[in-house]
Amino acid sequence: MAEYYPYIKMLHVICVVLSIFLFLLRSAWTFQGSPMLATAWARTIPHFVDTTLFVAAIMLTLIIHQYPFQAPWLTAKVVALLAHILFGLLFFHYRGSWAVRKAALALSLLAFVYIVAVALTKNPLVFG
Ligand code: HEM
Ligand code: HEM
Repeated sequence: MAEYYPYIKMLHVICVVLSIFLFLLRSAWTFQGSPMLATAWARTIPHFVDTTLFVAAIMLTLIIHQYPFQAPWLTAKVVALLAHILFGLLFFHYRGSWAVRKAALALSLLAFVYIVAVALTKNPLVFG
């Protein structure tokens, strides 16, 4: 499988770009109260992209023999991914105040940026 590493990594990164694009698109639709949010493709394609992103990630870890809870930068990615998802759920599904939802969106996006920074530096502290 190792000979496919560059391609799996490319797939992983393409899915990262698609994932954040779809996330931002659905965020904009949420603010507009757009009926597009309820369409079948808007409900399924993001999960398809994210599942592909995740499966590619697991394949990469298996090839380089570095795993979360063993390699600190991968532990950081998993924890931040959970934050991205939980704050994302809060933003999309919470029906309370907009202040809370906007804060959740900001934190979800911050978690995503952090994941990319950790991926590029292989350092949970990013700087230092
Ligand atoms: C928890 C699940 C994840 C795991 C285990 C994981 C694991 C990995 C691994 C092993 C690499 C290859 C590193 C290398 O060869 O240099 C990689 C690259 C990358 N990952 Fe992930 N990843 C995960 C989730 C994510 C997510 C959600 C994002 C985006 C928010 C992301 C963004 C990236 C980027 C941008 C790269 C390319 C880094 C480079 O070009 O050096 N990853 N990831
Ligand atoms: C790196 C990979 C992943 C990312 C970036 C990601 C991202 C997200 C985000 C941001 C949410 C919040 C709600 C929303 O956006 O609508 C979410 C919810 C969810 N994700 Fe993921 N996810 C990933 C992997 C997976 C995997 C592998 C599965 C299972 C196959 C999964 C299943 C779900 C489910 C069931 C929900 C909640 C249901 C819903 O809101 O409709 N996710 N995910």
